[in-house]
Amino acid sequence: MNLVTFLTSLLAVPCLAVPQTSTAASRASTTTSFAAQFTVPASADEGATLLPNIYDPTAADAQAECPGYNATGVKTSSTGLTAHLTLAGSACNVYGTDIHDLDLTVEYQTDKRLHVNIRPSHVSSQNQSWYLLSTDYVPAPSQEDGKMTTSDLTFSWANTASTGFGFNVTRNSTGDVLFSTTGTKLVFENQFIELVTHQEENYNLYGLGEVIHGLRLGNNLTRTIYAADVGDPIDMNIYGSHPFYLQTKYFEMGNDNRTTLVTQPVDSNNDTANYTSSNHGVYFRNAHGMEVLLRSDNVTWRTLGGSIDLYFFSGPTQPDVTHQYLDVIGQPVLQNYWGFGFHQCRWGYENWTVTEGVVDNYAKFGIPLETIWNDIDYMFQYRDFDNDPVRFNYTDGKAFLQRLHDRGQHYVPIIDSAIYAPNPDNQSDAYPTFNDGNDTNSFILNPDGSLYIGSVWPGYTVFPDWLTSSAQAWWKNQLVTWHQKIPIDGAWIDMSEVSSFCVGSCGTGNLSLNPVHPPFKLPGEPGNIIYDYPEGFNLTNATQAASAASASQSQADATVTASSTTVSGSSSSTSYLRTTPTAGSRNVNHPPYVINNVQGDLAVHAVSPNATHHNGVEEYDVHNLFGHQILRATYAGLLAARPGKRPFIIGRSTFAGSGAVAGHWGGDNMSKFYYMYFSIPQALSFSLFGIPMFGVDTCGFNGNSDEELCNRWMQLSAFFPFYRNHNTLSANPQEAYVWASVADATRAAMAVRFQLLPYLYTLFYNAHARGDTVMRAMAWEFPDDPSLADADRQFFLGPSILVTPVLTQGATTVDGVFPGLVEGTDVYYDWYNKTPVSKPTAGKNTTIDAPLGHIPVYIRGGAVLATQQMAMTTRDARNTSWSIVVAPGVDGTAAGQLYLDDGESQDPNSTKTVDLTARMGSLNVTVTGDYSGLDLPLANITILGVQSAPPSNVVKINGETVGNSTYDSDTKTLFIGGLERSLGGKVWAGNWTLS
Ligand code: GLC
Repeated sequence: MNLVTFLTSLLAVPCLAVPQTSTAASRASTTTSFAAQFTVPASADEGATLLPNIYDPTAADAQAECPGYNATGVKTSSTGLTAHLTLAGSACNVYGTDIHDLDLTVEYQTDKRLHVNIRPSHVSSQNQSWYLLSTDYVPAPSQEDGKMTTSDLTFSWANTASTGFGFNVTRNSTGDVLFSTTGTKLVFENQFIELVTHQEENYNLYGLGEVIHGLRLGNNLTRTIYAADVGDPIDMNIYGSHPFYLQTKYFEMGNDNRTTLVTQPVDSNNDTANYTSSNHGVYFRNAHGMEVLLRSDNVTWRTLGGSIDLYFFSGPTQPDVTHQYLDVIGQPVLQNYWGFGFHQCRWGYENWTVTEGVVDNYAKFGIPLETIWNDIDYMFQYRDFDNDPVRFNYTDGKAFLQRLHDRGQHYVPIIDSAIYAPNPDNQSDAYPTFNDGNDTNSFILNPDGSLYIGSVWPGYTVFPDWLTSSAQAWWKNQLVTWHQKIPIDGAWIDMSEVSSFCVGSCGTGNLSLNPVHPPFKLPGEPGNIIYDYPEGFNLTNATQAASAASASQSQADATVTASSTTVSGSSSSTSYLRTTPTAGSRNVNHPPYVINNVQGDLAVHAVSPNATHHNGVEEYDVHNLFGHQILRATYAGLLAARPGKRPFIIGRSTFAGSGAVAGHWGGDNMSKFYYMYFSIPQALSFSLFGIPMFGVDTCGFNGNSDEELCNRWMQLSAFFPFYRNHNTLSANPQEAYVWASVADATRAAMAVRFQLLPYLYTLFYNAHARGDTVMRAMAWEFPDDPSLADADRQFFLGPSILVTPVLTQGATTVDGVFPGLVEGTDVYYDWYNKTPVSKPTAGKNTTIDAPLGHIPVYIRGGAVLATQQMAMTTRDARNTSWSIVVAPGVDGTAAGQLYLDDGESQDPNSTKTVDLTARMGSLNVTVTGDYSGLDLPLANITILGVQSAPPSNVVKINGETVGNSTYDSDTKTLFIGGLERSLGGKVWAGNWTLS
């Protein structure tokens, strides 16, 4: 849009100022000093009207129209094969230009991993005309010396007369065909690649994110993968891109020991058959806009460019697949111990005083608070690395952070992806961060080489070009310099899809208008007051609900009246923009194949596909990587700012491998019970994606929360790795202390979380060290139970903690299963009263009492847990004495492990591993390593499931009589207390045995 049309459009749009805040401090705020702020017209964020291919009845079927390929010149070697693929007939050019010649490379990389790559023959490292995902950003490991003896996977191929080249990947040990394109045509064009694979009926796939959906993806879903800034719609593409799936196949074991694939859902309550399962994984290493069509008997991959770069993982268990996948993309980063404390955030903490007031309130109400966060409110006119000099000045900020740090608390601010482009006509608008980046060619360009200027919170903005090393150096420098002014403890990276509130370079020629207001109303602005509440609010808060409903109606009426003048009377059928492929050239803004992007046009609410990087690469080819790249750059920046300390980063847009530098939060969910439910499958999916540090906006982001929802949610999130309460601007406050019952419920759930922190930290260490899974689906822990294939309302934290939350409004009980309990393979103990769970009277479902304020949590038998106590921060919790809980399995044994270090050093100079094993009246503790910071007293040991009082109440540690024991015949627990002085008051100083 040029300036004239832009200004004309402004005349039709009311000018809105950023919301005014109410305190005295904020009245002096600089944000009020530019009241005459123009609003970018909403039309600036409208794209072409497109009909997604999957909904287009007239769309060409590439399988019908294209010729496929034939393989020739196949050369096999001990580690794989290479071949040439040639178009098997005349080009079809359905959604681009067919590539005549392709190279196929197959590599057996380890005994469990196979790599298949198909790329245009003309592409080489010298020939940059075709974008292949760079290994600089996303690893593409090749054969590992010595790791491949004999492969469990076999690649086989054939040219068939009707469809040409196709291939199968088979798992040798089970004879299972894991992936088969045989009998389908390979389509390879410059803007469209298609690979159709066969599937058995009712197949079970998991992953393919990021999406808000049940854990099991089902067989009628199109997964569009295209990073989008959008508030958590169901079943659509959202922030992250994870082209990976886990597939689970269940087999019924016959009497003759033969197995049959299970192709129908199994109802565990009425089923006595024996089952087994096997899992494998598929990673399509491609960062282009992509679609995976899950249909009843096939899965079709379509991507808008790049290559077919497939990694197959033979499993055969989910943990195996996850290990194998993370070996390729990178193991999760080692988190800080403090990262597992509780985090409070909101959009709308308008100055330091308000922010510190929240911290103080948590203390007053006796609710632990580890970290306080600030949203964009802290910025000077929404500029990164620039605090508002009045409301969030550095002097007061430093003093505040010092107070936080003295108490063992932390501070994490938001950092947005877009950089304000100042008004060149206004000297006082100068912004050094912009100048530094501009001077070093660190920003994305237009095709003509000028700066690409979009619009985000601060007004017109530019976007870092992560493909240049200068942008990375500039970003690092910004972080280091800013950190000197305000010593932040971590970073919250937002808007990284990368979001822009207008189509194209809308700020070009318009910078003199900066700053401008976004093309939509912010929450709380006139006409955008939040009246939405959780389900059942009308039942629990009738009066308030009625007045909110009537206020909402008046707002709606006012909006209708205001807009009715612009509604035209005529209705016409929609005409869609359709792009016909042009030989040899690409249309990156409107590719011929239209993915079902949640925003429609690829350029809507995002930087446009034709924005150009300094190395000539178009945004079209790397769009899904921006979020990953900014996380990596931030990791480097924080490490430089805080040398030797682990960077703490939570990001919104992620790609395969982002877990190696950051965690993720679930984005802009809503204060609804059903979003609380969706947080579980979302978290479990991120377990598969190698980003275990996951949590959602607890109590809900958009809309107002209420007492019941927030009560349930504060308890549920206490069992998620990342535990943060966050809320949108102008919604009702929802900190844990706002309602007395929520404060109580929070303390109750936090008490459990704090006791489990050493366990959670050990799980994360094992995730980091060897790719173990932290939050686990029921099906992964009980792989031989097909009735758990879609279970996503309960979950395990590690192997030993089962969480069965209430997820519906008004409920006081919850139905859950205790896998293995009926079969007699497993026992469970109630966390709170330590009593063994009794078998259900019929079937497998148990109805569990769960009044408001109680979250059912169980220890799965077979575990030894070393716990510490709740304190106001994790630092103080680390100073509490230890307890040990022994929860025997059905065979009477139990085991556990602890990883200990200082919790924050990038390379700890000492660590300790403790192995705890229990059997037949004894507990053995074996210590390896010399970290001594947690060698504190042992307070007590509780042994669960002890059927009768032990014959002697003499307890000995290393042969010496210690403590005192009491047996409770009701709960079947043996409690051994008074151990503080044993072991010299240092429980992990050396090996010991208790008998
Ligand atoms: C985005 C983020 C949200 C944040 C808001 C304002 O919507 O997802 O968490 O509060 O921007 O910065």
